[in-house]
Amino acid sequence: MKDVLIELKDLVKIYDTGLIKVLGLYKINLKIFRGEFVAIMGQSGSGKSTLMNILGCLDRPTLGNYYLDGVDVASMPSDELNKVRNQKIGFVFQSFNLISRMSALKNVEIPMIYAHKNSPKERAERAEMLLEKVGLGGRIHHQPNEMSGGQRQRVAIARALTNEPPLILADEPTGNLDTASSVEIMEMFSALHKAGATVVVVTHEENIAAYTDRMLRFSDGRLISDRDNPNPTPVRDLSIFEGMYHQKGVDRC
Ligand SMILES: Nc1ncnc2c1ncn2[C@@H]1O[C@H](COP(=O)(O)OP(=O)(O)OP(=O)(O)O)[C@@H](O)[C@H]1O
Ligand SMILES: [Mg+2]
Repeated sequence: MKDVLIELKDLVKIYDTGLIKVLGLYKINLKIFRGEFVAIMGQSGSGKSTLMNILGCLDRPTLGNYYLDGVDVASMPSDELNKVRNQKIGFVFQSFNLISRMSALKNVEIPMIYAHKNSPKERAERAEMLLEKVGLGGRIHHQPNEMSGGQRQRVAIARALTNEPPLILADEPTGNLDTASSVEIMEMFSALHKAGATVVVVTHEENIAAYTDRMLRFSDGRLISDRDNPNPTPVRDLSIFEGMYHQKGVDRC
């Protein structure tokens, strides 16, 4: 039987700006299963980032429930929510969100520092191992402004993986990249999915969504279609992250 990782029940998000109320999401009912690779699509303003922020525990719904691994996180106190976010979720953003004055290595170490994980030596070793996996072994001491957009996004992917989160969320990760870099990044997400992670990617582009195996489409804050993609775009190397997700990390979120 498929194992539910994410369940949304009648989830509503209303932004209250003080002057007006803006509908972000309306009565979303959705299950995402462990190990799925999902694309979130829809026009600008349709609610994609609103959804990702809620899934990523960066924001809370106004009404309804969000169960992550069976736990209702919508009503969790903030400190517990921060812990859940740090342990279970890896984020990748359109604008990379790296710290510009820090090396790639230090950027990747940050989530481990927040999680009070490992000794400084172990943190550096793990960060280097992750940067090698994303093909940046030769650039660990470079700062983001010394790298191309595609390389920056690969640093961001390495950073998202530091705590081995079972859920990877990416909001338009290829939005600032050229075609060749976009292909590289989507191949990396495909390999992560293959290694056992649950991956959710927001995109405007059909050819990016085509790498995933399920496409959800939003319009005006509503989920308007949900369809499987039986033939995801084939990728060159699915083995990049092989064995990285320990069984524990995949089975127990
Ligand atoms: N912080 C906010 N305050 C008020 N309204 C907001 C806020 N964030 C989003 N909205 C509104 O919620 C709706 C959904 O926005 P959202 O950012 O989720 O869209 P999106 O699908 O991610 O769009 P894009 O493709 O442009 O990134 C829009 O009407 C938007 O104006
Ligand atoms: Mg958005």
